[in-house]
Amino acid sequence: MRILSGIQPSGKLHLGNYFGMMRPALELQGRGEAFLFIADYHALTTVSDPAALRAATRDVALDFLACGLDPDRTAFYRQSDVPEVTELMWLLSVVTPMGLLERCHSYKDKIAKGIPASHALFSYPVLMAADILAVRSDVVPVGRDQKQHVEVTRDIAQKFNAAFGEVFAVPEPSIRDEVAVVPGLDGQKMSKSYNNTIEIFGAVAETRARVMRIVTDSTPLEAPKDPEKCNLFALYRLLVSEAEAAEMASRYRAGGLGYGTVKKELAARIESYFAPMRERRAGLERDPAFVEDVLRRGAARARAEARRTLDAARRAVGLS
Ligand code: ADP
Ligand code: TRP
Repeated sequence: MRILSGIQPSGKLHLGNYFGMMRPALELQGRGEAFLFIADYHALTTVSDPAALRAATRDVALDFLACGLDPDRTAFYRQSDVPEVTELMWLLSVVTPMGLLERCHSYKDKIAKGIPASHALFSYPVLMAADILAVRSDVVPVGRDQKQHVEVTRDIAQKFNAAFGEVFAVPEPSIRDEVAVVPGLDGQKMSKSYNNTIEIFGAVAETRARVMRIVTDSTPLEAPKDPEKCNLFALYRLLVSEAEAAEMASRYRAGGLGYGTVKKELAARIESYFAPMRERRAGLERDPAFVEDVLRRGAARARAEARRTLDAARRAVGLS
């Protein structure tokens, strides 16, 4: 089995990114051949400051390595170090109907948020298809908001194969139901564009302050509460064992548990969960040459795969 996922270097990573995409992808590392990349070409659709792009790329590299990416098992690379994906994107564009892209929610959402409607933003899913198809990935672990893009990839692969012969493997999205959508401070999907995030490596005091701002209902302290309807519990259960989550759920149902208490416990859990990774990250930060070497080796592996796929696609369409 081949596994691939990517993330844009366009902001600090948060609990939604971690539980929706990073942890599931990292857990799949031992189950097949894994490819993980930093989608810097994609980030150019929204980031126009070169220094910010460079800094965010470095941050994502450190974050993934700190969170358990094993460079001996996983090819970890910058998308732009594999330029074959952009050539493959052109070959895929030829079989991509306009209507398929016009239906993409993510494009419509970004336009609604005021991001200028560039051609790159519109064709974003075709580049994503090229990322996935270039390394012939079978499984693509992502959060629910990316599911449509993986479906677009499937459509494009099938159209290409029908027109030119079986060149591409058709991938499946892999979405963990329990973390499909991690709620943010306001109860909406946690997202950097809603300013409702809790960063995985944010300053401890800032994380605590943010947890205190998480929206809860106005059930009085002594009343029994429904954990399933509470944003605090939705986050808490991601950080603890099943037994600990069950225990917290029964404290909710028993009554007498205030949201302030839960907030303090949640903040402490976030801190302790990420503490070892924070320490590892500090070590990696002092060794930029190691990080660069990991990314170079990862790119070499991904490039070899991408080259093979691109050559097959070129032959299939009649390019020499
Ligand atoms: P953001 O919404 O902050 O811009 P991205 O769109 O860059 O985050 O998402 C990167 C990855 O993290 C994707 O696979 C996405 O599905 C996942 N992800 C982001 N936010 C959440 C969330 N709140 N719940 C679950 N997964 C998420
Ligand atoms: N579009 C994804 C996001 O915003 C990032 C991404 C780019 C990706 N190419 C990919 C994810 C290929 C999975 C597979 O999160």
